[in-house]
Amino acid sequence: MKNTVSTFKEAKKNGEKLTMLTSYDYSTAKLVDEAGINGILVGDSLGMVCLGYEDTLSVTMEDMIHHTRAVARGAKNALIVGDMPFMSYQTSVYDAVFNAGRLMKEGRAQAVKLEGGAAVCEQIEAIVKAQIPVMGHIGLTPQSVNAFGGFKVQGKSEEAAKKLIGDAKKIESAGAFSIVFECIPAKLAEIITKEVSIPTIGIGAGAGCDGQILVYQDMLGMFSDFKPKFVKQYAKVGETMKDAFKEYIKEVQEGNFPAKEHCFKIDEEVLNKLY
Ligand code: KIV
Repeated sequence: MKNTVSTFKEAKKNGEKLTMLTSYDYSTAKLVDEAGINGILVGDSLGMVCLGYEDTLSVTMEDMIHHTRAVARGAKNALIVGDMPFMSYQTSVYDAVFNAGRLMKEGRAQAVKLEGGAAVCEQIEAIVKAQIPVMGHIGLTPQSVNAFGGFKVQGKSEEAAKKLIGDAKKIESAGAFSIVFECIPAKLAEIITKEVSIPTIGIGAGAGCDGQILVYQDMLGMFSDFKPKFVKQYAKVGETMKDAFKEYIKEVQEGNFPAKEHCFKIDEEVLNKLY
């Protein structure tokens, strides 16, 4: 069954946990979708796990549209959320609506996500007014890595925790249909989840959120640059892939691949006419 923003709202009302994973291409999106996920985020984590940047800041609108469109072709039932990259919405309300529109129109996203609290609520309100569903994102917002002085857990002091509670409520009032909490203390995430009526999706925010999201390369063991504490590896696909690559290299070098069954035939009669 097709997941929509209504599915997300209903799930919170009924106390059903929501599941999300990232995807960045057609084949992966198809697998994730067939597994029965509620939502796929085409995250700007694309910059790190697919494009090899050290952070997400260099990701462009063109990158996001290109990958969102591929995911949209692969996923039939998941709600597809396109991430708004750095400086595509911070600059003005006009830019925010214009670029959110591009993610929907050109990327075929069904909702957009943007990072930040009170500072971006004007943008959220305007995008929602344009009939585009918005997912908020607070806590460790990776586009603020330089302002934070690194990838650090947020909301640990009284002041920071109060600011996160206020931000979540403002995002809800601005009309967002859901909020991602990234790297905040589990107990704080649980408190905020109870205080807002929209579903909260956690990543490094404990089990008290209304749903969870992970970057698929992290949970499959395909990204080896670093492993965040909040990641559970459900498989060691990276190792399986490397073993298969090694086996292929060996077989080609030894002349064992391709074998007869991988080759196409030609009639002897045609061959004889060649010489
Ligand atoms: O870009 C991304 O993948 C994200 C998730 C980590 C929530 O924003």
